[in-house]
Amino acid sequence: MLRQGSVEYGFQTGVTLESAVTPVDLVMNVDKPRMEQAVLNLLNNSIKFSCRGGSVKVSITYPYTGAAGIPGSAYALMAVTDTGEGVASEDIMKIFGRFFQAEEHTTRKYQGMGLGLFITKKIIEGHGGIIWAESKGRGLGTTINALLLAS
Ligand SMILES: Nc1ncnc2c1ncn2[C@@H]1O[C@H](COP(=O)(O)OP(=O)(O)OP(=O)(O)O)[C@@H](O)[C@H]1O
Ligand SMILES: [Mg+2]
Repeated sequence: MLRQGSVEYGFQTGVTLESAVTPVDLVMNVDKPRMEQAVLNLLNNSIKFSCRGGSVKVSITYPYTGAAGIPGSAYALMAVTDTGEGVASEDIMKIFGRFFQAEEHTTRKYQGMGLGLFITKKIIEGHGGIIWAESKGRGLGTTINALLLAS
């Protein structure tokens, strides 16, 4: 489980990783290796698309009451927020598509296949959750939100 705090995520990236978790015991019925893969995909992206001096914050809000859901159900919202490259508004839905990458393939700086978010979306939706991205635009950071059933 994530704990509150701040750590330097390795000397090579120079990106600070923080977590902000409400101090409650949250029980979720998940396929652990798959959910770990989903979270790692999000962290990996946020670190990859940030520069030295940037930060990545993971927060879990539980219970999350900000959206209409199934009556009587409880939800947890996980948000991974970075101060990195951001996503253009026209790409905000496309980034979950298979092999989608915002960068031109001929001038690529970043490694990857364009599959991480596609797989992550499948995992979150496979758990009955929903996932969406928010960004104020290129250069202005990104938040990926995952809303999951919790108890
Ligand atoms: N945190 C982020 N900040 C800025 N752009 C992002 C972020 N996360 C995803 N993207 C954009 O969405 C694209 C798709 O992301 P995805 O994780 O699917 O692929 P990838 O990271 O390029 O490759 P892979 O995950 O297969 O190693 C990225 O190439 C990038 O253009
Ligand atoms: Mg990725």
